[in-house]
Amino acid sequence: MAAPVEHEKWSSRLTFILAAVGSAVGLGNVWKFPYTAGMNGGGAFVLIYVLCILAVGLPILIAELTLGKRGQMSPPNSMARLAREEGRHKSWQTVGWIGVAAGFLILSFYSVIGGWALAYIPKLISGSIISTDPGVVTAQFDALLADPWELLIWHSLFMGLTVFVISRGIHAGIEQAVNVLMPSLFFLLVALVIYAAIAGDFARAWSFLFSFDFAKIDGSVVLSAMGQAFFSISVGLGCMMTYGAYLPAQANIPRSAAVIVTADSIVALLAGLAIFPIVFANGLDPSSGAGLVFVTLPLAFAGVPGGEIFGTLFFILIAFAAITSSISLLEPVVSWAEEHKGVKRSLSAILAGALSWAIGLLTVLSFNVWGDFHPLSMIERFREATLFDLIDYLTSNIMLPVGGFAMAIFASWMLSKATTRAELDLPPALYKAWLLLARFVAPAAVFLILIFSVSE
Ligand code: PHE
Repeated sequence: MAAPVEHEKWSSRLTFILAAVGSAVGLGNVWKFPYTAGMNGGGAFVLIYVLCILAVGLPILIAELTLGKRGQMSPPNSMARLAREEGRHKSWQTVGWIGVAAGFLILSFYSVIGGWALAYIPKLISGSIISTDPGVVTAQFDALLADPWELLIWHSLFMGLTVFVISRGIHAGIEQAVNVLMPSLFFLLVALVIYAAIAGDFARAWSFLFSFDFAKIDGSVVLSAMGQAFFSISVGLGCMMTYGAYLPAQANIPRSAAVIVTADSIVALLAGLAIFPIVFANGLDPSSGAGLVFVTLPLAFAGVPGGEIFGTLFFILIAFAAITSSISLLEPVVSWAEEHKGVKRSLSAILAGALSWAIGLLTVLSFNVWGDFHPLSMIERFREATLFDLIDYLTSNIMLPVGGFAMAIFASWMLSKATTRAELDLPPALYKAWLLLARFVAPAAVFLILIFSVSE
């Protein structure tokens, strides 16, 4: 067992909240949520998504933060330590390892998509991608995806930035950056929603997102909604456990978790309300997939005076929102390396970043050279899935829910009630509610959704 290493702690409750919200709010909200909702028929998906956030995501987030705050270390070592303290089997440590693996995989494609946002910045400054003609914007976006070298450059830059921030440690830079950037993103998003409401087809977007057509619900919609919920609040793989480990003893976990979840959901819904009015007003296809945001926003900005400036600003903020998430994906393994080997932060950040960067090549190639490579085409559901689609599916829809399931079980059954009661410090009724959700409701939901959608 490693000698316990004292990690840096957050400088205040607020900086923890900002960092955790920074982790949660990212490409999942502004890029993935709109297009996944679009591909899954809109309202029914949104309803299940919200239910999953409240009944499954929130109790698991509370569980995960508790494990971190109590364990004080990286996920594998926190799990090992708690298992030992509570007299549980040491194989619980595996949960931490699965999380670290999922982190590598998610970061690998996250960095590629974050790279798209970076690539858009010069294109918006020069105005080359801003047009009122959907055909022009789509062609520009397709040209970006078709060029593996261009994708590679931006992927490398994004990963480089992530590694840079992580190697500087917890306090230096990121806390202040998040402080300014998260509120700016929020205000620009609200401005964009207002613009979309005036210039786009807001009524249609509203009914697309919020009218629940239950006929559209099937196993795969429910699984996607659950996967998206886990992905969006960064739960189930140990990022939040790691951030929780840097909390001071007096921090209030349930309240923080509620803030994180609320902020995250509001940003996702706002992104939907900013994007779909423009989709419908321009006759675009809401189910067109991963390019949705990258095509609709340049169209929107073409209609605004000063569109180049707003557009540039907006993609800078998206890139920053993505970086405040990607760093949380790299932190768990770096924090583990610090504990175990006493390896220097910068070295482990570079090594881990390089590994994830290399895995990211699979995603880069999925959009061009390997675009027609569908490794699991013999399975109906994956008939047209590229490597990127498969990595995304495996992480969001399987690994995160399974990781979250295990964390909920561990926190609510394996830790003593005295421990969780003291850590959560909730009024008795709310403590009971959490226990009920974490012990039964959330694990049962994950289990049933997984079984049901796999057997479908
Ligand atoms: N929550 C982030 C987003 O929505 C992505 C993420 C997933 C970050 C898992 C950390 C862990 O973009």
